[in-house]
Amino acid sequence: MDIKHLRQKIRQQRCALGPAGQAIAARSLDSHLRGVADIANARHIGLYLVNDGEIDPALFMHWAFTQAKHCYLPVLSVDQGQPMKFAEIKPDSEFEPNRFGIPEPMVSAESLLDASKLDVVLLPLVAFDLKGNRIGMGGGFYDRTLEFTRQQPYDRRPKLIGLAHEFQYSSEIEPSPWDIPLDGIATEKRAILFKQ
Ligand SMILES: Nc1ncnc2c1ncn2[C@@H]1O[C@H](COP(=O)(O)OP(=O)(O)O)[C@@H](O)[C@H]1O
Ligand SMILES: [Mg+2]
Repeated sequence: MDIKHLRQKIRQQRCALGPAGQAIAARSLDSHLRGVADIANARHIGLYLVNDGEIDPALFMHWAFTQAKHCYLPVLSVDQGQPMKFAEIKPDSEFEPNRFGIPEPMVSAESLLDASKLDVVLLPLVAFDLKGNRIGMGGGFYDRTLEFTRQQPYDRRPKLIGLAHEFQYSSEIEPSPWDIPLDGIATEKRAILFKQ
């Protein structure tokens, strides 16, 4: 199946999950994420607000708040084609929609963080495999934002964990040269760091 049809098929499938299915998946995801030491011990965590039927990391975020961790959401740059930056989110943050209609925290430009400052990035995806290959929505936003990880040793860069429903697994992913590989994946069934 080509990438376009694979994206279409999986996006339809995840959009068809109702609120009850999403809630169950979100609870299991939360417990799997907390079970991986490198994720549970992270202090600075990038995550996302759900869109398009993605699996929801919000429960993990609420747990992270109770542990006094810092959570951040990606913010699209004003300049198209530039890496995304990350804005710290607090329980009382205010939001405004970006050009895709996805809410972003309203923070001053100076307080935006580079992705390189995060310990873990939990990133959404459309399809994953168990070799670290990821297919996103097709904008290449995370590939551009995480490009710097190529130059950094494993221990000194954020761990990149793709979050998905288990049915988003695909054995057929051929990475493109610009794709940034994941260090692990987490679903409602499991959380795996590939290196371990
Ligand atoms: N590091 C990068 N520098 C410049 N362009 C990039 C980079 N990473 C991705 N792109 C561009 O983004 C586009 C979408 O990338 P793709 O990997 O297909 O999307 P996604 O990762 O969202 O599935 C590609 O056409 C590619 O040219
Ligand atoms: Mg890509």
